[in-house]
Amino acid sequence: MDRVEIKGTPVFKGDIVPPPDKSISHRAVIFSSLAEGRGVVSNFLRAKDTESTMNAFRSLGVDIVDEGERLIINGRGLYGLREPHDVIDCGNSGTTIRLISGVLSGSPFFSVLTGDESLRSRPMARVIKPLTMMGAAISARDENRYPPLAIKGGMLRPMTYEMPMASAQVKSSVLLAGLYAGGKTVIKEPARSRDHTERMLPAFGADLAVDGLTVSIKGGGRLTPVDVIVPGDFSSAAFFIVASLIVAQSEIYIRNVCMNPTRTGLLDVLRSMGAKIVVENSREVSGEPVSDLYCSGRCDLKAVDIGGDIVPSLIDEFPILCVAAALADGVTTIRGAEELRVKESDRISAIASELRKMGVVIEEFPDGLSIKGSEALIPAEVRSHGDHRIAMSMAVAGLAADGVTVVNGASAVDISFPGFFDLIRELSS
Ligand code: S3P
Repeated sequence: MDRVEIKGTPVFKGDIVPPPDKSISHRAVIFSSLAEGRGVVSNFLRAKDTESTMNAFRSLGVDIVDEGERLIINGRGLYGLREPHDVIDCGNSGTTIRLISGVLSGSPFFSVLTGDESLRSRPMARVIKPLTMMGAAISARDENRYPPLAIKGGMLRPMTYEMPMASAQVKSSVLLAGLYAGGKTVIKEPARSRDHTERMLPAFGADLAVDGLTVSIKGGGRLTPVDVIVPGDFSSAAFFIVASLIVAQSEIYIRNVCMNPTRTGLLDVLRSMGAKIVVENSREVSGEPVSDLYCSGRCDLKAVDIGGDIVPSLIDEFPILCVAAALADGVTTIRGAEELRVKESDRISAIASELRKMGVVIEEFPDGLSIKGSEALIPAEVRSHGDHRIAMSMAVAGLAADGVTVVNGASAVDISFPGFFDLIRELSS
């Protein structure tokens, strides 16, 4: 299954429900584990990343019962976690390692966090620095920059912190540490990153306030369990939205998609490129906006320039946006997206090198790229760089190529979307 063939197709049709949201699934397990008593998480994402979070909390002593349809989490309270017997393996998951670092900073025991080769090359100073300022003792590999991280948690003090980059993982890590600090912790972002923590933590009883780009939290309280229903993941739906825009005879319904505005920047960009995407049946589920989407027929997409404050709201969608840009009329330019260099892979160089194999003309910048659109893509043998979103983006590109495209390293999709290739095959046959 590590080598998957994708056939170019004139047809892409169906009615689908994307997998549950990854960011919300992580948070539902973390917050429920820290609450006092029994919480239920329904529609939890079954994928490698969220499994890493579940296993981490089990190793911290939390009883998580997997009933198939739902998880029952018997939360131990903020101070009920126990010292793990072994190193905690966060796998490929940046969200797991960075958010748990905040929790462990306030937990009075020793723990070590590590992960796979990709995670061990991702920057951790961005959480180590603020957590150390709050009083945690953290050391890490290569002058405190990369995992493994060794944490000795204890008493934390509140602080005011200005983040150098927009990052929901850093923001959430500091907010979680703030639960353990006596007083008010304040964190300011340069641009708004996803706000699932700010939406969900108050439902668990946290004293949290948002004022523009500033979030504050008061420590010293306790969390009480609430039941969470996880909506579908917009980032996973994105592959099907773009597929429908680049395949001639397409008609796709995508149901139950989380439409949190801090996540849906791709829709705004695609619309400005000329795409027609219908959003209907809007409702609210567990404090998040949810809708059904409908798209049909290949669009005459036009190139756009992207940069500035919109970037965080489509940070995970740049690889698939590059596929749309490769089939748009004109040169699309993406700037201010240097964070892409430190994701599961260096997504700027990964997507550039793989799309070039399909005949696309691309220029790389330190903080983005420019992509010259063309009428068609050439089928090629491409690889995922071990990155789930690169694997899925290249598979979608293969749908618009006349012939067979081979995706190597395809099993990377299991990080967020097991079953992705079966679904693609079903819709294009
Ligand atoms: C995530 C935040 C984002 C995103 C990642 C998931 C989260 O990273 O890229 O896939 O769940 O908080 P940032 O920390 O850079 O915002």
